[in-house]
Amino acid sequence: MVQIAPSILSADFAKLGAEVRALEKAGADLIHLDVMDGHFVPNLTFGPMLVKAIRPYTTLPFDVHLMMTNPAPFIAEFARAGADMITVHLESDADIADLIALIKKEKKKAGISIRPKTSVSKLLPYLPMIDLVLVMSVEPGFGGQPFIKHSLEKIVELKALIGRKPVQISVDGGINNITAPACILAGADILVAGSYVFKHKLYERQIRQLKQSSEG
Ligand code: DX5
Ligand code: ZN
Repeated sequence: MVQIAPSILSADFAKLGAEVRALEKAGADLIHLDVMDGHFVPNLTFGPMLVKAIRPYTTLPFDVHLMMTNPAPFIAEFARAGADMITVHLESDADIADLIALIKKEKKKAGISIRPKTSVSKLLPYLPMIDLVLVMSVEPGFGGQPFIKHSLEKIVELKALIGRKPVQISVDGGINNITAPACILAGADILVAGSYVFKHKLYERQIRQLKQSSEG
């Protein structure tokens, strides 16, 4: 069964604790937290202090997506703030193996994300070291963008590269009731969804629709 990771980027930032609690009640499997540094992407969000502040509101795993040029100095802080999975970008300036080692040192799951134009073959050296690949199906930086169809071919290709290795495939950007089943068919294990989950006040209905669409 596919897992749904609502992104709080589309939540009401004035009441994030309550939002996270509502997502758990609504059947979310993970909470996706988008950290943007204003440099790697043209947008700014939040840091470890906020992750720590909302940690007491849910027992769901925190899936922290670092859209940062230089994430290394912050990895331990995010881990201690309550992250369970930490994903860094292959296109960041840092040495990827070093970043993975920093995440593993904190005993957290390590993920690598790739932008829409980055080839999945570039992940090959890292697949034995990581737990998750986050395929960006929009250019990172903002919620509410349309799904880039070419991402489906990337998921299929990635699935073949992963083979029997214990690496999950997560897809982030433009997920809705139409694109979700296509991603599942291609091989996604986790769907990150921001605007689709939050566009209706009944989060439970939105999450159920994403899960159901992947069953049929
Ligand atoms: C975009 C973020 C996404 C974003 C997805 O840079 O990484 O997690 O919240 O938003 P939607 O689902 O609206 O495309
Ligand atoms: Zn994200």
